[in-house]
Amino acid sequence: MLNTRRQFLKVASAGGIGLLTPLGFTGSVSADESISWFKNPLGIPPLETGNVIDGKRVINLSLGYGTSTFLGDRPTATVGINGAYLGPVIRVRQGDDVELKVTNRLTEASTLHWHGLNIPAAMDGGPHQSINPGQTWNAAFKILQGASTQWYHSHVLHRTGIQVYFGLAGLLYIDDEHSKSLDLPSTYGVDDIPLVLQDRSFNQDGSLLYLGSMHDRMMGMMGQLMLVNGTTFARFKVQKRLTRLRILNGSNARIYNLEFEDQREFLQMATDGGQLERPVAMRDIVLAPGERAEILVEFVPGDDVLLRHKPLPRRGGSGAATMGMMGNMMAANDQPFSIMRFDAAQSSSTAQTIPARLTTPRNWSPNDAVRTRRFDLNMQMGMGMMRGGGFGINGRPMDMRRIDQRVPLGDVEIWEIVNQSPMAHPFHIHDTQFRIIDRNGRPPMAGEQGLKDTVLVYPRERVRIITQFENYADAKAPYMFHCHILEHEDAGMMGQFVVVS
Ligand code: C2O
Ligand code: CU
Ligand code: CU
Repeated sequence: MLNTRRQFLKVASAGGIGLLTPLGFTGSVSADESISWFKNPLGIPPLETGNVIDGKRVINLSLGYGTSTFLGDRPTATVGINGAYLGPVIRVRQGDDVELKVTNRLTEASTLHWHGLNIPAAMDGGPHQSINPGQTWNAAFKILQGASTQWYHSHVLHRTGIQVYFGLAGLLYIDDEHSKSLDLPSTYGVDDIPLVLQDRSFNQDGSLLYLGSMHDRMMGMMGQLMLVNGTTFARFKVQKRLTRLRILNGSNARIYNLEFEDQREFLQMATDGGQLERPVAMRDIVLAPGERAEILVEFVPGDDVLLRHKPLPRRGGSGAATMGMMGNMMAANDQPFSIMRFDAAQSSSTAQTIPARLTTPRNWSPNDAVRTRRFDLNMQMGMGMMRGGGFGINGRPMDMRRIDQRVPLGDVEIWEIVNQSPMAHPFHIHDTQFRIIDRNGRPPMAGEQGLKDTVLVYPRERVRIITQFENYADAKAPYMFHCHILEHEDAGMMGQFVVVS
């Protein structure tokens, strides 16, 4: 349970026993059999657009305890935002002045961070904007960015992992005039569908199991059962032939390599920060924790197909032999499994044309970069690992009192992220959207050539990104950069930067 440390420890010491359904069940069960397991109607989170009061869009959000029925008969204690688990899809428009009133009805401190947004640091909802029990925090800012699928989640120091795991997260959509003018599926819950992917483990009594082992702490918490928008064994009844899926990897640590079981082609139309220049055809897509993608999928009447994870191709220079124990643990974890079902039996067959051009995502030339900063991701093996320590960036763990970087407002900068560890880490930067210049000197694939705020850095990889920190400077209030595996972030793989004018 989330509310006291003692209860939390009780959960943790229950250990990894009594798990319900192995996640990797497609290994021995045929797709034909397993598809029938997916019969729970996909939950669609409520839309929250707030009320416009004196020209401001005011949205009330309340963090509280609840009970969820992931497992049918056995209730699960969870936390949510305006509900029992997860939060509403907050929907705002470019140009809106928003005021998000966040009331903490939990018995411990929390925060809500607006992931992906360019907003003042004091409104960012990171560890410095902690909300005590019973208090309300007003986050007020202007929506400057264009059409995109952003999200929000707890970001409290050292407890982000457990708070998100129990349910403190949700999606935040930004609409703009240009994307409205494009002929894209855009009816919420009908042909424009949110998919929040999360994996969770449970104890026999139905309670959530968090951090049952040292492995969970080191590799990050990976669960045994898939939830999509909080629904286990989810089935979505497709209504329109062309359907847009807005996918968030809202998991604490698991990286998905998504494909349809029939390996059908789909079009990626957006990355973390908004739409791509043009839709990109693909058959699989990797999403690390924190990353989003919007895809367009065509379903014809009669289709009944599973979305699944297939093991990631090995990347980076180091093979299993040099990865040793860690490599074995990772390999053991990477089994194929099914995520949810799309049943298009009754869908309409009206074809829809897809715009050839979507938008012009912002870009910067490396020639305009004023400087390059380097970030080494460290995970200490051996004794450090056994003590559960050794997570840091540039050799140092997160320290709330230390500012690691000072970024002049408006400078174009290259950030070079070097993964010095044997596992992949999704590196996330607050306040900005960036473009990936290259991975080990090679340009990113088409699906990554858009605005990003999180980039997966494979073992022994060196990724260069380019961006510009704009609009807001505050020498006192820091933004964060960190690994988005929440257990790594909680253990110190995070740093702070201020934007100064
Ligand atoms: Cu989504 Cu600093 O986080
Ligand atoms: Cu963020
Ligand atoms: Cu990490």
